[in-house]
Amino acid sequence: MLFLAGGVATPALAIEYNMPVGVTAVSRDIHSLHMTIFWICVIIGVVVFGIMGYSMIRHRKSRGAIPATFHENTRIEILWTIIPLVILFVMAVPATATLKDMYDASESALDIKVTGHQWRWQYEYLGENVAFTSSLATPREQINNTSEKGEHYLLEVDNPLVLPINRKVRFLTTSTDVIHSWWVPDFGVKKDAIPGFINEAWTRIDTPGTYRGQCAELCGKDHGFMPVVVQALPEAEFDEWLVARKAEAEASLNDAGRDWGLEELMEKGEKTYATICAACHQPNGQGMPPAFPSLVGSAIVTGDMQAHIDIVINGKAGTPMAAFADVLSPVELAAVITYERNAWGNDTGELVQPAV
Ligand code: CUA
Repeated sequence: MLFLAGGVATPALAIEYNMPVGVTAVSRDIHSLHMTIFWICVIIGVVVFGIMGYSMIRHRKSRGAIPATFHENTRIEILWTIIPLVILFVMAVPATATLKDMYDASESALDIKVTGHQWRWQYEYLGENVAFTSSLATPREQINNTSEKGEHYLLEVDNPLVLPINRKVRFLTTSTDVIHSWWVPDFGVKKDAIPGFINEAWTRIDTPGTYRGQCAELCGKDHGFMPVVVQALPEAEFDEWLVARKAEAEASLNDAGRDWGLEELMEKGEKTYATICAACHQPNGQGMPPAFPSLVGSAIVTGDMQAHIDIVINGKAGTPMAAFADVLSPVELAAVITYERNAWGNDTGELVQPAV
């Protein structure tokens, strides 16, 4: 299965027409179910259209013939009741078993909260103090500019979701704005992420590797640019990764306590703006009025800073501006506010350290 947008060529992408077998017991069950039902349908189709075609050809010169007028045939009635019943059972029994299995998210070794945002994913390793967002690695603008070549662009993310193989991982999906859907075909997992609800799904991956998916629920302008990239690691490697990630999280907590230089705050702010804010307010701050007002010289970035911070943290009721309290760390918040004020609210030519 491919998730592509127009753009730069990526070599060796074989087109797969069937659904993937995948790398989990559930995905294999779903695949074999799909094939079983597919072949049943093929056989029924061949038989029905075969008899129809045969009758049409065999009796094509029978104009004026008198049709048979018999009323019922008990044997045929029983036969065409029993055969479909048997077919239904052949489909329903494995389908029910697979569904039951898919819904049993109990006894997981790792729980991950997956939150959809327009247009990126946020992953929280529950109880592990590890959380990050996963957004499109190449700016949408750049993809659009290169798409005219008619080649293809493999949608990469800045932070892939990292999972261990051979462990049951439970996903809790939700959203902060509109409905998204977290989908990785190779896992046989597709779960809606709905604001105000928490849905549940799980997987246990067999094989290490990189697996790709994509938001599967139309969620606005950049729905097609909300890829899911999962890196599945052997258990020991995953454990190492998690320890390193936790150390990083702790370091960034300490970051909030230290003094940041204006230059490094600007640098961090520029990055944060590019991954979080630029999707709506555009890389140049011009926005997409009227839904997303331009920040350039606007009262938002020149006026009261507390109001500016409030809007970023809590969103703005009645507008598409979402709340970013759960998305930005304290340092990222300070950085992005500093960046926006200096980039578009300050024409003195000198960096200004905003004071709270
Ligand atoms: Cu998120 Cu479509």
